[in-house]
Amino acid sequence: MTDAAPTGPSTATDGSAPLLDVRDLQMYFPVKSSGLIRRTVGHVQAVDGISFQIESGGSLGLVGESGCGKSTTGRLVTRLYKPTDGSIHFEGRDIAGLGPRQLKPLRRDIQMIFQDPYGSLNPRHTVGRIIGTPLEIHDVVPKKQVLPRVQELLEIVGLNPEHYNRYPHEFSGGQRQRIGIARALTLQPKLLVADEPVSALDVSIQAQVINLLQDIQREFNIGFLFVAHDLAVVRHFCPEIAVMYLGKIVEIGERDAIYQHANHPYTQALLSAAPDVKQAAIGGRRERIQLQGDVPSPINPPSGCRFRTRCSYAQDICAAVEPPLLQIGRRHKVACHFAGEIGHHPAEPVTAPLLGVDRHGDRVPGTDPTPGLGTDSGYSDTWYDFPGRRMVRDESA
Ligand SMILES: Nc1ncnc2c1ncn2[C@@H]1O[C@H](COP(=O)(O)OP(=O)(O)O)[C@@H](O)[C@H]1O
Ligand code: SF4
Ligand SMILES: [Mg+2]
Repeated sequence: MTDAAPTGPSTATDGSAPLLDVRDLQMYFPVKSSGLIRRTVGHVQAVDGISFQIESGGSLGLVGESGCGKSTTGRLVTRLYKPTDGSIHFEGRDIAGLGPRQLKPLRRDIQMIFQDPYGSLNPRHTVGRIIGTPLEIHDVVPKKQVLPRVQELLEIVGLNPEHYNRYPHEFSGGQRQRIGIARALTLQPKLLVADEPVSALDVSIQAQVINLLQDIQREFNIGFLFVAHDLAVVRHFCPEIAVMYLGKIVEIGERDAIYQHANHPYTQALLSAAPDVKQAAIGGRRERIQLQGDVPSPINPPSGCRFRTRCSYAQDICAAVEPPLLQIGRRHKVACHFAGEIGHHPAEPVTAPLLGVDRHGDRVPGTDPTPGLGTDSGYSDTWYDFPGRRMVRDESA
């Protein structure tokens, strides 16, 4: 690492376009008044300006408490919802504004696996029909080859290929999720959004389904957005993790950055709530951090940092200024004025000099905020080194 002049973040990683490039994605659901004339009286800010990338064959874990906007993000990426704002580049093309007809070919490439294997499979259709219908709709194989293909898919997900004539209720929960996975694989997608795919399953079955997803990802080189509500589930699946809180990404980075060097108080609290099984086995202990209170309403989120009402490090600046999602390592970003590893949170806001404000968040005359702070979806080869209070450049890049 060497010192570098503070520059706006660059988009380049290795020059090639990522499979998925999401920028400033926003989804506001209108809140209507009751009564005869239903006026819009506010908005649920379910997703509020998030940016991230997924490489071809890569997998990003999206983690956060219930209600923080994970499912909405998944539904935006699969374009089940049309975003209020922002862009979603898939293979270099912005799909955020496409209409139903333009979306049809895309439905092959981006598939979703749902949390609830009971609710997402039609109980009146046989498994053969559930898996075979997409093949027919999209004209993937000649009619005669639909059944052999269905059987092949059943085999891939570890089910008996002779059971294509059975109905969903004849299978166990874990098997039903396997059917959901087979259906998602039918059209050979390039990106799979898995929304809490194991949350509804018995703990004993969860590992099997995760292993299956992992095998499938390796075998078919599928990009994954893997949504989970706790960090333990994605730990062994995703080399990269994003932590969401009230519609924002508060920390994102490669596995080690998140699990070994979490800098955001919210990530630290989530980690202490879900200690790693292996660490517990060797007697390693983490200090348990209790999350105070409930998640505030996304209709009226707190000013500045949305986590401040539950954060034990919060100071004046946290209410006044929203912390930008700053890159603080090769593949690590965090949005916190007092970012630091546990026991090393600084006393002064580390972001203040970059934002041109003082410790209360008031503008300092004659200093300007660094342009473009925290808006990039990827990683730059320069970043802000918090302990050293300086921009550094990655020389290996
Ligand atoms: N269709 C919708 N209309 C209105 N509000 C919604 C809708 N879908 C989700 N929300 C709200 O948006 C917020 C985020 O929801 P969601 O994305 O489901 O969170 P998560 O999956 O992280 O639990 C919640 O407050 C939820 O109530
Ligand atoms: S910015 Fe302030 S309130 Fe938000 S997480 Fe950091 S210390 Fe806590
Ligand atoms: Mg959800």
